[in-house]
Amino acid sequence: MTSFKTLDDLPADLTGKVALVRVDLNLPMADGVVTDDTRVRASAPTILELADKGAKVLLLAHFGRPKGEKVSTMSVSMTIDAVQHVLGREVMFVPEIAGPVVVQSLGILRPGDIAMLENTRFWKGEEANDPELAKAIAANGDFYVNDAFSAAHRAHASTEGLAHVLPAFAGRAMEAELTALEKALGNPERPIAAVVGGAKVSSKLDVLSHLVAKVDHLIIGGGMANTFLAARGVNVGKSLCEHDLAATAEAILDAADKAGCTVHLPYDVVVAKEFAANPASLRTCNVHEVAADEMILDIGPQATEALADVLKTCRTLVWNGPLGAFETPPFDTATVALARSAAALTSEGALVSVAGGGDTVAALNHAGVAAQFSYVSTAGGAFLEWMEGKELPGVKALSPA
Ligand code: 3PG
Repeated sequence: MTSFKTLDDLPADLTGKVALVRVDLNLPMADGVVTDDTRVRASAPTILELADKGAKVLLLAHFGRPKGEKVSTMSVSMTIDAVQHVLGREVMFVPEIAGPVVVQSLGILRPGDIAMLENTRFWKGEEANDPELAKAIAANGDFYVNDAFSAAHRAHASTEGLAHVLPAFAGRAMEAELTALEKALGNPERPIAAVVGGAKVSSKLDVLSHLVAKVDHLIIGGGMANTFLAARGVNVGKSLCEHDLAATAEAILDAADKAGCTVHLPYDVVVAKEFAANPASLRTCNVHEVAADEMILDIGPQATEALADVLKTCRTLVWNGPLGAFETPPFDTATVALARSAAALTSEGALVSVAGGGDTVAALNHAGVAAQFSYVSTAGGAFLEWMEGKELPGVKALSPA
């Protein structure tokens, strides 16, 4: 694993220093109110630790995708109430990220105070990873802390560029995330199972290709399982299916075979003629009995039980993506059942279970088992890229330990 400096490498007293701290405030909102503050809670220990050691803390974050324009509805200040609430401290808003306004604000802040700088993506140089912008931001700080694992797959000025101009440390959330992920796939205890679900094979081709060489069992669920079933000659009726990816699916199955990875596809499935909650046409059948006007919406009970048995033989589990159309009952059944099996095995100490991605976290919360998993990552794209075996630019750039 990349070795990197952490907050433990900073002096105990940071009075007189300015910390530039990259956090992820790309929070879900409805009617101007933050609906999930998980990412703020994840970074609160880092922010408070630096403030309590006497540093002036300047928070850097993006919010939405304003593409280098100042879009008032995408001001990061929209999140300030949630941030103040989680931190239990007052946070000053600064409508710039560099230059004299930031300098002036630093004159007002006392040691231990916290300020939030404006949306980094209001400046074109952010996404272009312009070294000049990184230098301008860095001019107001003594060191840089990256606590935004979920944005670490972006090589932007505030996630990567700054690490080349200032001493760069991993924050506590970043450190915890990387340690947990390393445990899961860096040097994991075998056998390893991976659950990969979700709608489309096309969005997870790299993940699937990488995993077949890494894991002992690959459990494919969701719409993407249909693509694999169809490639094997199964008639999937009206199911969501990328028929044009049949050859790709075959190639992944071949690669798995060669690598000694067992791919698990469902042999019984839950089908319906329309996609709606508890539809009248709902039935469970063998995968070879799907009618032309039916669609597969979940894995069936026998397959789910068999998958639970597979997990019993494993020591490590990595999970991304639901097994069925879990937002609509009863197509959440297999996901909930398998998540509960994994959680029970984890609680017994038999399994290390790591999950990540927006839908997956929602599914685990829905099953009421997120807290029992060994680690649940809040990252979406970054978690997927990590599963693909890619080195994340924001992690790679941290100062080596
Ligand atoms: C996220 O919400 O997953 C991260 O903040 C990254 O956001 P982005 O996909 O807009 O880069």
